[in-house]
Amino acid sequence: MTPRAHVPQVVLLGAGMDARAYRLSCLKECAVFEVDFPELLKTKAEIIHEATISPCHQRVTLQAKSLVRVPADLREHDWLEKLRKHGFNPNKTAVWVLEGILYYLPQHNAMNVLESIAANCALARMTLLADFMNKSSLSLSNSGTYHFYSDWPDHLLPTIGFSRVKLSQIGDPDAHFGLLHDPENLFEKVRKLPRSVQTHPDDGTPCCRLYLVEAS
Ligand SMILES: C[S@@+](CC[C@H](N)C(=O)[O-])C[C@H]1O[C@@H](n2cnc3c(N)ncnc32)[C@H](O)[C@@H]1O
Repeated sequence: MTPRAHVPQVVLLGAGMDARAYRLSCLKECAVFEVDFPELLKTKAEIIHEATISPCHQRVTLQAKSLVRVPADLREHDWLEKLRKHGFNPNKTAVWVLEGILYYLPQHNAMNVLESIAANCALARMTLLADFMNKSSLSLSNSGTYHFYSDWPDHLLPTIGFSRVKLSQIGDPDAHFGLLHDPENLFEKVRKLPRSVQTHPDDGTPCCRLYLVEAS
């Protein structure tokens, strides 16, 4: 069923075990779409099902107006078409949440995902919330887990159609969440250095940065 005009849509790409749709009452007017690999979504559905029938005090209930899970591989060209077939309307208001997903994708696939969102949803009010690793952060995995990076997402996104890009680094006052007290914390240590600096002047370690970006 296609959401009606006034129902905002929230799309979680690489949703994983994210349980916002069950936790956040602010989503009660929203149609939530979760995109991930089929096996992941199947396992998640089973776990959530168990939690919805558990004893009262532990039971989880859906807070969102609706929730649709969309099995798709974001490296394939048809993921947006699959999302559409599951009821997503690219001409209606949407918030896109790309948390912990872009850097797992090869460079060209990550760019395709961002470009597809910009190109296909240009007519609607749209907000993108995404995290980006910088190049040095790729070294956080020595098994080659991370691929896509951008040292300057605030420059990159406008080239593909996004505007009003707001960027924070994890640990900034608006992206602190009371969690980063340790001055030796990986991200905290580099936050105040110029963003062009790739290795820490004190110890030569890579300046690993995680950028949190809001764009529209
Ligand atoms: C680190 S988890 C992030 C989960 C969630 N967004 C969060 O922040 O908690 C990455 C998720 O992306 C999914 N993923 C990775 N590559 C993908 C792809 N090519 N297509 C769809 N999902 C993918 C994984 O299955 C996993 O659930």
